[in-house]
Formats: sequence, structure tokens, C-alpha cells
Amino acid sequence: MWRGWWLAIAALLAPIAKVDGGFALHISDFHLDNDYSPMNGDISFYCHSSTNGTRLGDYGDYMCDAPKSLVKNALNAASGINPTPQYIFWTGDNVPHIDNKLYNSSDVVRNIQQTTAQLIAAFPNVSKIFPVLGNHDYWPSNGFPDQQNPVYKGAFDQWKQWIGDQAASTFLKGGYYKYSLDSKTTLLALNTNLYYNEDGYFPNFTNPADPADQFDFMEQELSNATKNGQFVHIVAHIAPGGNSAHTLASFIPYV
Ligand SMILES: *[C@@H]1O[C@H](CO)[C@@H](O)[C@H](O)[C@H]1NC(C)=O
Ligand SMILES: *[C@@H]1O[C@H](CO)[C@@H](O)[C@H](O)[C@H]1NC(C)=O
Ligand SMILES: *[C@@H]1O[C@H](CO)[C@@H](O)[C@H](O)[C@H]1NC(C)=O
Ligand SMILES: *[C@@H]1O[C@H](CO)[C@@H](O)[C@H](O)[C@H]1NC(C)=O
Ligand SMILES: *[C@@H]1O[C@H](CO)[C@@H](O)[C@H](O)[C@H]1NC(C)=O
Repeated sequence: MWRGWWLAIAALLAPIAKVDGGFALHISDFHLDNDYSPMNGDISFYCHSSTNGTRLGDYGDYMCDAPKSLVKNALNAASGINPTPQYIFWTGDNVPHIDNKLYNSSDVVRNIQQTTAQLIAAFPNVSKIFPVLGNHDYWPSNGFPDQQNPVYKGAFDQWKQWIGDQAASTFLKGGYYKYSLDSKTTLLALNTNLYYNEDGYFPNFTNPADPADQFDFMEQELSNATKNGQFVHIVAHIAPGGNSAHTLASFIPYV
């Protein structure tokens, strides 16, 4: 989301909650900023280096996104509490809140690679890691398309080790997927950024009524789960109704 600096801190201190006799870690909003400058950061310029820069904190500062040191430290702290949670739910936002002119889609993929690598380094023995895309996992931010593009491809290449090759058909088209956690529990990891219209941004969808066929997917999966008496966990970055072109009413048939 856009209230990045404090959301990032809150998210990095994410809770480790006990579920079904095991533990799950929910972590989100790294907003990793590779250009954070602790020696010469300018808070009026995203804490990047400028002629007005000053000495900022080694682990981040007010009005700044997270430097690598903070991402690493937060993950190591979480892993110190429990190195082997049964699941890690990772709800996105890997690029900083900076002007779209200052980065491009290669930078988005690079940041996703970096945070993925940090997560693996902190939790080498956890294989059930379920990422979703946040609105700050695209260039331009919030501008997710409903068709193939280098960001979906780049993220999928990083994440298929966890979410599986069978996720390719939905992920490469719309950045969402299904995963069977066990015989009676299904995970639907959604890309709700498709419905987010912060700043009045309206993407040029090929199917505006149901971008990337995600509603159709939910309908099929949820009716199937109902029929089979299965539990469904739904994970996403933007909550239903949050600055949404598709209002909460769009979701009601599905909940
Ligand atoms: C530095 O501060 C001066 C005076 O406030 C301002 O005019 C200038 O635009 C600033 N430079 C940058 C790079 O922010
Ligand atoms: C993104 O910018 C970098 C330079 O900062 C450049 O090397 C790269 O080719 C650009 N990628 C795209 C997709 O424009
Ligand atoms: C991962 O598992 C290996 C082998 O069991 C163990 O030696 C190592 O300490 C574990 N690392 C963490 C961070 O749990
Ligand atoms: C929207 O997409 C269509 C088909 O991909 C393209 O022909 C059209 O120029 C696009 N419109 C804008 C405003 O980008
Ligand atoms: C629905 O469930 C049936 C039986 O379990 C399965 O064969 C089918 O692939 C499922 N469809 C979807 C869309 O998950």
C-alpha cells in the first residue's frame, strides 16, 4: 500500500501465529530500497543520496523505505524466534515508494530476486513459502496487466520452486495461483492488485469485466471446495474494497 514507511515497519515485525498445532509466519511489505543512503540520504528525495543528504540510520530511518540491512535483520529476527514455521505467507510489495521515473520492470524483478534470496537465507529449511504480488511489485506501480509480461515471468521463475509448475497457467497470465496445502485445505493466492485503482489509474485490460479471469477462477475453485467439503485459505495484498474498481459487492458472491 502507499503508507509505506510505517506499514513496512509494522509488517517487518510480523506476528508468528500458531495454527493447527503448527506455526505460520506472515510477512509483508519489505519495500526494499537499494538506493537508500545511510551516509548521505535526503528525506525529501526518498532517502536517496543528494546534495542535501545527511547521515541516516544504518537500519533505515523515518520517511524512508527499507535498506537491505533492515530486511535481513527482520528476517533473521523472525527466524530466531522460529526457524521452521510450517508455512510462510508472504504478501508482497518488494519495491520502494519512489517515482515511476526512477525505476523500471527489470528493477522490480531484481528486487523480487533479492527478497526471495533473503527469505531463503533466513529460512533454509522451510519449503512451504507462499508469495503473492503487492501493488508495489510492478512497473509502473499498481499497473498490473491481465496478460503475460516480464514481471509475472520473473516472479514465477523465482517462486515456482514453492508454488509449483502447475501454477504457471494462472500466474503468467494474472499473477495468481492455487495450491493444495493438504487433502482438505486449498490455498488461493490472489492478485487483488488487478482491481486496485489508487490515483485513478485504470489499466488497459483485455478483459475488463474479469481481468485475467480471476473471478472465474475463484468461482470454480470455491464451488469445487464447497462440493468437496474443503477448507480454503485466501491470501492477497489488497483487501476487498480497498480503492477498488471492483467494489466489495463484487466479492460478496464468493465469501
Ligand atoms: C536542496 O535544498 C535546496 C534548498 O532547500 C533546494 O532548493 C534544492 O532543490 C534541494 N536539492 C535537492 C537535490 O533536493
Ligand atoms: C532498466 O534500467 C536499467 C538501467 O538502470 C537498464 O539496464 C535496463 O535495461 C532497463 N530495463 C528495462 C526493461 O527497461
Ligand atoms: C537447517 O537444517 C540443517 C540440517 O538439519 C541444520 O543443520 C541447520 O541448522 C538448519 N538451519 C536452520 C536455520 O534451521
Ligand atoms: C489497449 O490495448 C489494446 C490492445 O492491446 C491496444 O490496441 C490499445 O492501444 C491500448 N490502449 C491504450 C490506451 O494503451
Ligand atoms: C474440481 O474437483 C474435481 C474432483 O476433485 C477435480 O477433478 C477438478 O480438477 C476440480 N476443478 C477445479 C477447477 O479445481
